[in-house]
Amino acid sequence: MYLTKEEERILNGECGWANQTCMKILTRLGELFNAEKLIPISSAHVSGVSYKTLGDAAVEFLQALADGGARVKVKTTLNPQSLDPEHLTKRLPKTLCEKQLNVLEQFERMGTTESLTCTPYYLEKPSRESHLAWAESSAVVYANSVLGAWTNREGGPSALAAALMGKTPDYGMHRAENRQPNLLVNVETRLQNETEFGALGIHLGKLLRDKIPIIQGLGKTSKDSLKQLSAAVATTGMTNMFHCNNCSETKGIEKVSVKAKDIRRTIQELSTASCKKCDLVFIGCPHCSLAEMKQIAQTVQGRKVKHGTELWVCTSSHIKETARDYVNEIERSGGQVLAGVCTVVSWTEKLGIETIMTNSAKTAYYAPTLSKAETILSPMKECLRAAFQR
Ligand code: F3S
Repeated sequence: MYLTKEEERILNGECGWANQTCMKILTRLGELFNAEKLIPISSAHVSGVSYKTLGDAAVEFLQALADGGARVKVKTTLNPQSLDPEHLTKRLPKTLCEKQLNVLEQFERMGTTESLTCTPYYLEKPSRESHLAWAESSAVVYANSVLGAWTNREGGPSALAAALMGKTPDYGMHRAENRQPNLLVNVETRLQNETEFGALGIHLGKLLRDKIPIIQGLGKTSKDSLKQLSAAVATTGMTNMFHCNNCSETKGIEKVSVKAKDIRRTIQELSTASCKKCDLVFIGCPHCSLAEMKQIAQTVQGRKVKHGTELWVCTSSHIKETARDYVNEIERSGGQVLAGVCTVVSWTEKLGIETIMTNSAKTAYYAPTLSKAETILSPMKECLRAAFQR
Protein backbone atom coordinates (compact mmCIF):
# COMPACT_ATOMS: atom_id res chain seq x y z
CA MET A 1 0.00 0.00 0.00
CA TYR A 2 1.32 3.42 -0.93
CA LEU A 3 2.14 5.62 2.10
CA THR A 4 3.15 9.27 2.06
CA LYS A 5 6.42 10.26 3.71
CA GLU A 6 4.52 11.49 6.76
CA GLU A 7 2.51 8.25 7.03
CA GLU A 8 5.76 6.28 6.81
CA ARG A 9 7.28 8.33 9.61
CA ILE A 10 4.23 7.65 11.78
CA LEU A 11 4.39 3.93 10.97
CA ASN A 12 8.09 3.87 11.89
CA GLY A 13 7.25 5.25 15.33
CA GLU A 14 8.74 8.71 14.82
CA CYS A 15 5.53 10.32 16.10
CA GLY A 16 5.12 8.16 19.20
CA TRP A 17 3.63 4.80 20.16
CA ALA A 18 -0.03 5.88 20.05
CA ASN A 19 0.15 7.23 16.51
CA GLN A 20 2.25 4.27 15.37
CA THR A 21 -0.33 1.83 16.77
CA CYS A 22 -3.16 3.57 14.92
CA MET A 23 -1.19 3.66 11.67
CA LYS A 24 -0.43 -0.04 12.06
CA ILE A 25 -4.15 -0.82 12.46
CA LEU A 26 -5.03 1.16 9.33
CA THR A 27 -2.22 -0.19 7.14
CA ARG A 28 -2.88 -3.82 8.16
CA LEU A 29 -6.57 -3.35 7.37
CA GLY A 30 -5.70 -1.70 4.06
CA GLU A 31 -3.34 -4.53 3.08
CA LEU A 32 -5.93 -7.13 4.02
CA PHE A 33 -8.48 -5.56 1.66
CA ASN A 34 -6.01 -4.54 -1.08
CA ALA A 35 -6.39 -0.80 -0.55
CA GLU A 36 -3.91 1.23 -2.58
CA LYS A 37 -3.71 4.16 -0.19
CA LEU A 38 -5.25 5.96 2.76
CA ILE A 39 -7.84 8.64 2.09
CA PRO A 40 -8.93 11.57 4.28
CA ILE A 41 -12.23 11.27 6.15
CA SER A 42 -14.60 14.04 7.21
CA SER A 43 -15.77 12.34 10.41
CA ALA A 44 -15.44 9.23 12.54
CA HIS A 45 -17.99 7.51 14.76
CA VAL A 46 -16.63 5.18 17.43
CA SER A 47 -18.51 2.22 18.93
CA GLY A 48 -17.45 0.26 22.01
CA VAL A 49 -18.16 3.06 24.47
CA SER A 50 -20.36 1.15 26.90
CA TYR A 51 -18.29 -0.46 29.66
CA LYS A 52 -20.68 -3.41 29.45
CA THR A 53 -19.43 -4.27 25.95
CA LEU A 54 -15.82 -3.10 26.43
CA GLY A 55 -14.38 -4.81 29.50
CA ASP A 56 -11.17 -3.86 31.33
CA ALA A 57 -8.54 -4.81 28.72
CA ALA A 58 -10.08 -2.47 26.13
CA VAL A 59 -10.26 0.36 28.68
CA GLU A 60 -6.53 -0.10 29.42
CA PHE A 61 -5.85 0.23 25.68
CA LEU A 62 -7.87 3.47 25.52
CA GLN A 63 -6.00 4.81 28.51
CA ALA A 64 -2.63 3.93 26.95
CA LEU A 65 -3.60 5.76 23.74
CA ALA A 66 -4.70 8.85 25.69
CA ASP A 67 -1.53 8.71 27.85
CA GLY A 68 0.50 8.41 24.64
CA GLY A 69 -0.88 11.74 23.43
CA ALA A 70 -3.39 10.42 20.88
CA ARG A 71 -5.77 13.19 19.76
CA VAL A 72 -8.50 12.99 17.12
CA LYS A 73 -7.87 14.76 13.80
CA VAL A 74 -11.52 14.93 12.64
CA LYS A 75 -14.91 15.35 14.28
CA THR A 76 -15.43 12.12 16.22
CA THR A 77 -18.74 11.11 17.75
CA LEU A 78 -19.31 8.28 20.25
CA ASN A 79 -21.86 5.50 20.47
CA PRO A 80 -24.13 5.17 23.57
CA GLN A 81 -22.68 4.39 26.98
CA SER A 82 -24.14 1.99 29.57
CA LEU A 83 -26.10 4.48 31.67
CA ASP A 84 -27.87 7.80 31.77
CA PRO A 85 -26.52 9.72 34.79
CA GLU A 86 -29.95 11.29 35.42
CA HIS A 87 -31.97 8.08 35.44
CA LEU A 88 -29.74 5.05 35.95
CA THR A 89 -26.71 5.96 38.10
CA LYS A 90 -28.59 5.49 41.38
CA ARG A 91 -30.01 2.14 40.25
CA LEU A 92 -26.76 0.52 39.11
CA PRO A 93 -23.74 -0.68 41.14
CA LYS A 94 -21.33 2.17 41.95
CA THR A 95 -18.27 0.34 40.62
CA LEU A 96 -19.85 -0.10 37.18
CA CYS A 97 -20.77 3.60 37.06
CA GLU A 98 -17.22 4.57 37.98
CA LYS A 99 -15.74 2.30 35.34
CA GLN A 100 -18.08 3.80 32.75
CA LEU A 101 -17.05 7.30 33.79
CA ASN A 102 -13.40 6.33 33.34
CA VAL A 103 -14.11 5.18 29.76
CA LEU A 104 -15.67 8.54 28.94
CA GLU A 105 -12.71 10.36 30.47
CA GLN A 106 -10.27 8.53 28.19
CA PHE A 107 -12.31 9.44 25.11
CA GLU A 108 -12.57 13.03 26.28
CA ARG A 109 -8.78 13.23 26.67
CA MET A 110 -8.49 12.18 23.03
CA GLY A 111 -10.79 15.03 21.98
CA THR A 112 -13.95 13.17 20.95
CA THR A 113 -17.39 14.81 21.03
CA GLU A 114 -19.44 13.36 23.90
CA SER A 115 -22.39 12.66 21.63
CA LEU A 116 -23.21 9.16 22.97
CA THR A 117 -25.64 8.21 20.28
CA CYS A 118 -26.07 5.67 17.50
CA THR A 119 -27.69 8.37 15.34
CA PRO A 120 -24.78 10.82 14.92
CA TYR A 121 -26.38 12.04 11.67
CA TYR A 122 -28.98 13.98 13.72
CA LEU A 123 -26.15 16.04 15.24
CA GLU A 124 -24.57 16.80 11.90
CA LYS A 125 -25.63 15.29 8.60
CA PRO A 126 -22.63 14.16 6.54
CA SER A 127 -22.60 15.45 2.98
CA ARG A 128 -23.28 13.15 0.07
CA GLU A 129 -20.22 11.24 -1.15
CA SER A 130 -18.16 12.35 1.85
CA HIS A 131 -15.84 9.65 3.17
CA LEU A 132 -16.45 8.61 6.79
CA ALA A 133 -15.09 5.99 9.17
CA TRP A 134 -18.13 4.99 11.16
CA ALA A 135 -18.59 2.02 13.42
CA GLU A 136 -22.16 1.22 14.65
CA SER A 137 -23.65 -0.87 11.91
CA SER A 138 -27.10 0.77 11.94
CA ALA A 139 -25.56 4.19 11.29
CA VAL A 140 -23.27 2.77 8.59
CA VAL A 141 -26.16 1.33 6.56
CA TYR A 142 -28.22 4.51 7.05
CA ALA A 143 -25.29 6.75 6.04
CA ASN A 144 -24.57 4.76 2.86
CA SER A 145 -28.18 4.10 1.85
CA VAL A 146 -30.21 7.11 2.98
CA LEU A 147 -27.67 9.93 3.35
CA GLY A 148 -25.47 8.99 0.39
CA ALA A 149 -22.25 9.23 2.41
CA TRP A 150 -19.51 6.60 1.97
CA THR A 151 -18.32 4.45 4.86
CA ASN A 152 -17.21 0.92 5.57
CA ARG A 153 -18.54 -0.84 8.64
CA GLU A 154 -15.67 -0.12 10.99
CA GLY A 155 -15.00 -1.91 14.24
CA GLY A 156 -14.44 0.19 17.37
CA PRO A 157 -10.59 0.06 17.12
CA SER A 158 -10.41 0.83 13.38
CA ALA A 159 -12.88 3.74 13.72
CA LEU A 160 -10.80 5.14 16.58
CA ALA A 161 -7.55 4.66 14.63
CA ALA A 162 -9.14 6.46 11.66
CA ALA A 163 -10.31 9.27 13.96
CA LEU A 164 -6.80 9.67 15.37
CA MET A 165 -5.16 9.65 11.93
CA GLY A 166 -7.95 11.50 10.07
CA LYS A 167 -7.71 8.81 7.37
CA THR A 168 -9.03 5.40 6.38
CA PRO A 169 -7.91 2.76 3.84
CA ASP A 170 -9.47 3.23 0.41
CA TYR A 171 -11.42 0.00 -0.14
CA GLY A 172 -14.96 -1.43 0.05
CA MET A 173 -17.71 1.16 0.31
CA HIS A 174 -15.27 3.99 -0.41
CA ARG A 175 -15.08 2.87 -4.03
CA ALA A 176 -17.95 3.53 -6.44
CA GLU A 177 -17.63 0.14 -8.14
CA ASN A 178 -18.40 -1.63 -4.84
CA ARG A 179 -21.62 0.31 -4.24
CA GLN A 180 -23.54 -1.13 -7.17
CA PRO A 181 -26.57 -3.37 -6.46
CA ASN A 182 -26.17 -7.09 -7.08
CA LEU A 183 -29.54 -8.44 -5.93
CA LEU A 184 -33.12 -7.38 -6.61
CA VAL A 185 -35.51 -7.74 -3.69
CA ASN A 186 -39.18 -7.51 -4.49
CA VAL A 187 -41.30 -6.85 -1.41
CA GLU A 188 -44.70 -8.30 -2.30
CA THR A 189 -46.57 -6.88 0.68
CA ARG A 190 -47.19 -3.29 1.72
CA LEU A 191 -45.28 -2.70 4.98
CA GLN A 192 -47.56 -1.04 7.52
CA ASN A 193 -45.28 0.39 10.18
CA GLU A 194 -41.69 0.78 11.41
CA THR A 195 -41.67 -2.63 13.07
CA GLU A 196 -42.45 -4.33 9.76
CA PHE A 197 -39.56 -2.42 8.15
CA GLY A 198 -37.35 -3.75 10.95
CA ALA A 199 -38.65 -7.28 10.39
CA LEU A 200 -37.87 -6.94 6.68
CA GLY A 201 -34.30 -5.96 7.64
CA ILE A 202 -33.84 -8.97 9.95
CA HIS A 203 -35.21 -11.31 7.25
CA LEU A 204 -33.08 -9.77 4.48
CA GLY A 205 -29.89 -9.62 6.56
CA LYS A 206 -29.95 -13.42 6.79
CA LEU A 207 -30.57 -13.84 3.04
CA LEU A 208 -28.21 -11.23 1.69
CA ARG A 209 -24.99 -11.86 3.60
CA ASP A 210 -22.87 -8.99 2.15
CA LYS A 211 -24.84 -8.42 -1.08
CA ILE A 212 -26.14 -4.95 -1.93
CA PRO A 213 -29.85 -5.10 -2.78
CA ILE A 214 -32.20 -2.86 -4.66
CA ILE A 215 -35.39 -3.13 -2.68
CA GLN A 216 -38.57 -2.61 -4.70
CA GLY A 217 -42.15 -2.43 -3.48
CA LEU A 218 -41.60 -0.36 -0.34
CA GLY A 219 -44.03 2.35 -1.45
CA LYS A 220 -43.78 5.64 0.41
CA THR A 221 -41.13 5.38 3.09
CA SER A 222 -40.30 7.65 6.02
CA LYS A 223 -36.71 8.25 7.13
CA ASP A 224 -37.59 6.67 10.49
CA SER A 225 -38.77 3.47 8.80
CA LEU A 226 -35.58 3.35 6.75
CA LYS A 227 -33.64 3.80 10.00
CA GLN A 228 -35.33 0.66 11.36
CA LEU A 229 -34.60 -1.20 8.13
CA SER A 230 -30.93 -0.10 8.25
CA ALA A 231 -30.48 -1.18 11.87
CA ALA A 232 -32.12 -4.55 11.34
CA VAL A 233 -30.45 -5.50 8.06
CA ALA A 234 -27.07 -4.87 9.73
CA THR A 235 -28.07 -6.96 12.75
CA THR A 236 -28.30 -10.27 10.92
CA GLY A 237 -26.04 -9.69 7.92
CA MET A 238 -22.93 -7.94 6.63
CA THR A 239 -24.76 -5.77 4.10
CA ASN A 240 -23.53 -2.18 4.36
CA MET A 241 -25.95 -0.59 1.94
CA PHE A 242 -29.26 -0.94 0.15
CA HIS A 243 -30.83 0.96 -2.70
CA CYS A 244 -34.53 1.58 -2.63
CA ASN A 245 -35.59 3.36 -5.73
CA ASN A 246 -36.92 2.33 -9.09
CA CYS A 247 -33.43 1.99 -10.48
CA SER A 248 -33.82 0.29 -13.87
CA GLU A 249 -30.40 -1.40 -13.90
CA THR A 250 -31.78 -4.70 -12.66
CA LYS A 251 -31.29 -6.80 -15.81
CA GLY A 252 -29.37 -9.99 -15.20
CA ILE A 253 -29.15 -9.69 -11.44
CA GLU A 254 -30.43 -12.32 -9.05
CA LYS A 255 -33.96 -11.77 -7.69
CA VAL A 256 -35.65 -12.71 -4.45
CA SER A 257 -39.10 -11.89 -3.19
CA VAL A 258 -40.38 -11.21 0.30
CA LYS A 259 -43.95 -12.09 1.16
CA ALA A 260 -46.30 -11.04 3.97
CA LYS A 261 -45.78 -14.40 5.65
CA ASP A 262 -41.98 -13.76 5.85
CA ILE A 263 -42.60 -10.51 7.74
CA ARG A 264 -45.23 -12.12 10.02
CA ARG A 265 -42.97 -15.08 10.82
CA THR A 266 -39.98 -12.80 11.57
CA ILE A 267 -42.05 -10.74 14.02
CA GLN A 268 -43.34 -13.90 15.70
CA GLU A 269 -39.81 -15.28 16.04
CA LEU A 270 -38.60 -12.05 17.60
CA SER A 271 -41.42 -12.05 20.16
CA THR A 272 -40.34 -14.59 22.73
CA ALA A 273 -42.59 -13.65 25.68
CA SER A 274 -45.51 -15.95 26.34
CA CYS A 275 -47.90 -13.16 27.43
CA LYS A 276 -48.34 -9.46 26.68
CA LYS A 277 -47.28 -8.25 30.12
CA CYS A 278 -43.95 -6.42 30.19
CA ASP A 279 -41.70 -4.70 32.76
CA LEU A 280 -40.33 -2.19 30.29
CA VAL A 281 -41.67 -0.52 27.18
CA PHE A 282 -38.68 0.71 25.21
CA ILE A 283 -38.73 3.06 22.22
CA GLY A 284 -35.51 4.43 20.79
CA CYS A 285 -33.45 1.80 19.02
CA PRO A 286 -31.86 3.37 17.05
CA HIS A 287 -32.08 6.58 19.08
CA CYS A 288 -35.24 8.61 18.49
CA SER A 289 -35.42 11.41 15.95
CA LEU A 290 -37.18 14.69 16.65
CA ALA A 291 -40.16 13.44 14.63
CA GLU A 292 -40.41 10.31 16.78
CA MET A 293 -40.17 12.37 19.99
CA LYS A 294 -43.07 14.47 18.73
CA GLN A 295 -45.11 11.40 17.83
CA ILE A 296 -44.54 9.87 21.28
CA ALA A 297 -45.37 13.13 23.10
CA GLN A 298 -48.60 13.50 21.15
CA THR A 299 -49.62 9.92 21.94
CA VAL A 300 -48.85 10.09 25.67
CA GLN A 301 -50.54 13.46 26.24
CA GLY A 302 -52.61 13.46 29.44
CA ARG A 303 -52.08 9.74 30.16
CA LYS A 304 -50.24 7.95 32.97
CA VAL A 305 -47.79 5.07 32.72
CA LYS A 306 -49.15 1.93 34.39
CA HIS A 307 -47.95 0.96 37.85
CA GLY A 308 -45.33 -1.79 37.54
CA THR A 309 -44.32 -0.82 33.99
CA GLU A 310 -41.51 1.49 32.95
CA LEU A 311 -41.50 3.51 29.75
CA TRP A 312 -38.06 4.38 28.39
CA VAL A 313 -37.61 6.66 25.41
CA CYS A 314 -33.95 6.70 24.41
CA THR A 315 -32.30 9.39 22.34
CA SER A 316 -29.19 11.58 22.23
CA SER A 317 -28.72 14.51 24.60
CA HIS A 318 -28.77 16.70 21.48
CA ILE A 319 -32.29 15.60 20.50
CA LYS A 320 -33.38 15.63 24.15
CA GLU A 321 -32.38 19.30 24.41
CA THR A 322 -33.98 20.19 21.09
CA ALA A 323 -37.22 18.38 21.99
CA ARG A 324 -37.67 19.95 25.47
CA ASP A 325 -41.46 20.37 25.17
CA TYR A 326 -41.93 16.79 23.99
CA VAL A 327 -39.64 15.55 26.78
CA ASN A 328 -41.72 17.41 29.38
CA GLU A 329 -44.91 15.84 28.02
CA ILE A 330 -43.43 12.34 28.15
CA GLU A 331 -42.05 12.88 31.66
CA ARG A 332 -45.40 14.27 32.89
CA SER A 333 -46.95 10.97 31.85
CA GLY A 334 -44.45 9.04 33.99
CA GLY A 335 -42.22 8.02 31.07
CA GLN A 336 -38.45 8.54 31.22
CA VAL A 337 -36.43 10.11 28.44
CA LEU A 338 -32.94 8.68 28.70
CA ALA A 339 -30.02 10.26 26.87
CA GLY A 340 -26.92 8.50 25.60
CA VAL A 341 -27.91 4.94 26.47
CA CYS A 342 -30.15 2.04 25.37
CA THR A 343 -31.31 -1.27 26.82
CA VAL A 344 -28.84 -3.34 24.79
CA VAL A 345 -25.70 -1.58 26.05
CA SER A 346 -26.97 -1.10 29.61
CA TRP A 347 -27.57 -3.62 32.40
CA THR A 348 -31.38 -3.89 32.38
CA GLU A 349 -31.17 -7.33 34.01
CA LYS A 350 -29.64 -5.64 37.08
CA LEU A 351 -32.74 -3.43 37.25
CA GLY A 352 -35.05 -6.42 37.50
CA ILE A 353 -36.33 -6.09 33.93
CA GLU A 354 -37.34 -9.49 32.60
CA THR A 355 -39.64 -8.63 29.70
CA ILE A 356 -39.09 -5.82 27.20
CA MET A 357 -41.72 -4.61 24.76
CA THR A 358 -40.24 -2.64 21.88
CA ASN A 359 -40.93 -1.47 18.35
CA SER A 360 -37.31 -2.20 17.37
CA ALA A 361 -36.48 -5.45 15.62
CA LYS A 362 -32.80 -4.94 16.48
CA THR A 363 -33.49 -4.71 20.20
CA ALA A 364 -35.86 -7.68 20.03
CA TYR A 365 -33.12 -9.67 18.31
CA TYR A 366 -30.48 -8.90 20.96
CA ALA A 367 -32.55 -8.70 24.16
CA PRO A 368 -32.75 -12.45 24.91
CA THR A 369 -28.95 -12.82 24.85
CA LEU A 370 -27.56 -9.39 25.78
CA SER A 371 -30.28 -8.29 28.23
CA LYS A 372 -31.46 -11.76 29.32
CA ALA A 373 -35.03 -10.59 28.71
CA GLU A 374 -38.12 -11.96 27.00
CA THR A 375 -39.37 -9.76 24.18
CA ILE A 376 -42.59 -8.47 22.66
CA LEU A 377 -42.07 -6.84 19.26
CA SER A 378 -44.88 -4.45 18.27
CA PRO A 379 -45.26 -1.08 16.53
CA MET A 380 -44.77 2.08 18.60
CA LYS A 381 -48.52 2.72 18.87
CA GLU A 382 -49.10 -0.69 20.46
CA CYS A 383 -46.06 -0.35 22.72
CA LEU A 384 -47.36 2.97 24.03
CA ARG A 385 -50.88 1.57 24.45
CA ALA A 386 -49.40 -1.22 26.61
CA ALA A 387 -47.45 1.29 28.73
CA PHE A 388 -50.51 3.28 29.78
CA GLN A 389 -53.48 2.73 32.03
CA ARG A 390 -56.68 2.19 30.11
FE1 F3S B 1 -28.50 2.20 19.12
FE2 F3S B 1 -28.56 0.62 21.18
FE3 F3S B 1 -30.07 0.14 19.12
S1 F3S B 1 -26.77 1.53 20.31
S2 F3S B 1 -28.96 0.91 17.38
S3 F3S B 1 -30.22 1.92 20.48
S4 F3S B 1 -28.92 -1.38 20.23
